[in-house]
Amino acid sequence: MALRHIVTQEDKILHKVCREQVKFDERLHQLLDDMAETLENANGVGLAAPQVGILRRVVLVIETNVEAEEDEEILELINPVIVKSEGEQVGAEGCLSVPGEYGIVRRPSCVTVRAQDRYGKWFEYTGTGLTARCICHELDHLDGHLFTEKAERMLSEEELKANRNED
Ligand code: NI
Repeated sequence: MALRHIVTQEDKILHKVCREQVKFDERLHQLLDDMAETLENANGVGLAAPQVGILRRVVLVIETNVEAEEDEEILELINPVIVKSEGEQVGAEGCLSVPGEYGIVRRPSCVTVRAQDRYGKWFEYTGTGLTARCICHELDHLDGHLFTEKAERMLSEEELKANRNED
């Protein structure tokens, strides 16, 4: 495994539409393993392939809705499509490619995604809360969109400071 460089919002690659992943080979597995290491290293909850410079429809989402004693699970979503979404949540959102900035974004509270695993097998997964937010955010990356385009407003320097003090 190896850490990959995370590009930031100025990079054109983040504004392009990603292509379908067609091969479920060692090269994809290497990408997924590297992305997992990169995500963990950056303390994020999700990462899309274009963020590491690869224009393919591949994302990772960390399932954070687990019992305290359980390990968080990393979901590997290849060629993902949202097939159902319900409810609404409004909250602060950030992105590893937009460091230090947060915005208020409206998202569904529950989404079901249909995707392929690293071997090409199709499955469905339903996420709620932060996981639903993260699935939507990462899928937006695959179509070249950043949360800053969807944010109702960005948090001010004062709000960011107040949040940091709470940590
Ligand atoms: Ni992001």
